[in-house]
Amino acid sequence: MNLKGRNFITLKDYAPEEIEYLVDLAGKLKADKKKGITGNSLKGKNIALIFEKPSTRTRCAFVVGCVDEGAHPEYLGKDDIQLGHKESVEDTARVLGRMFDGIEFRGFKHSTVEALAKYAGVPVWNGLTDDYHPTQILADLLTMKEHFGYLKGLNFVYAGDGRNNMANSLMIGCSKVGINFTILAPKCLWPKEELTALCRGYGEKSGASVTLSDDVKDVHGADVIYTDVWCSMGEEDKAAERVALLKPYQVNSAMMASTGKDTTIFMHCLPAVKGNEVTEDVFESAASVVFDEAENRMHTIKAVMVATLGDTENV
Ligand code: CP
Ligand code: NVA
Repeated sequence: MNLKGRNFITLKDYAPEEIEYLVDLAGKLKADKKKGITGNSLKGKNIALIFEKPSTRTRCAFVVGCVDEGAHPEYLGKDDIQLGHKESVEDTARVLGRMFDGIEFRGFKHSTVEALAKYAGVPVWNGLTDDYHPTQILADLLTMKEHFGYLKGLNFVYAGDGRNNMANSLMIGCSKVGINFTILAPKCLWPKEELTALCRGYGEKSGASVTLSDDVKDVHGADVIYTDVWCSMGEEDKAAERVALLKPYQVNSAMMASTGKDTTIFMHCLPAVKGNEVTEDVFESAASVVFDEAENRMHTIKAVMVATLGDTENV
């Protein structure tokens, strides 16, 4: 599989077998690291990490992934560079592209990461925008594959804000790889019809169903219940409205029990607001795999950098 030079902006741009390749490459890099083996596949590369929004997992995953493979990461926070203040995205992209071998961007507008990718001339990786969070999905797929041993045919339910970056990206990723995907949310927080239709098209090819429901009884049969914060970064003013809308969709022990399976796992991209989208007892329960997901951010982000920029000969 040759992904050299590719951007990583959303999983819409990746074929199912390319997504599975990245997940499996991450699994291999993870196994190597557990044996104390790290590589040199990014030796001599300089990587720019642009963050308009804060981050723990994504930032640390890129930094550790770079250093493990011999690259130099450079953190560029929102007040550190001219982007958004004195310089356009297009100009910043062309400057950074002359100095760096790859660029990660986390921020608000999805159009910013698209413009960076268009003008930089080097691979650009989306570390989260208002609309999509594709690197998180690779970590989630790796976590599910480790836990269940397979992906195709799993029943996945996402409960909560059904139109945020996580819901959008999970719908794309699950429908591409054959995971039956359900959004449980009030109708006003369902994903855009255009994206749902696109994902139903992916599902027709992979065998996955894509369901939107506002009835919590539809958790029945779920192998995975996933949730995310009710207010994403930049939406803090919507807190009261979202709590009122989403309280019935909280992941709690009653919801976990109503899957009818004692094997259902709980997933969350983190950071979590316990007491809102998930109760403390579910978060801390044996069904919770949230810290496996967090660790897997690093192995999967490393895999994206290695596959699109690195020397994969000896990986
Ligand atoms: N899950 C995730 O992207 O976490 P951070 O915001 O800490 O990067
Ligand atoms: N939907 C969340 C995801 C955080 C990783 C946000 O955008 O804040």
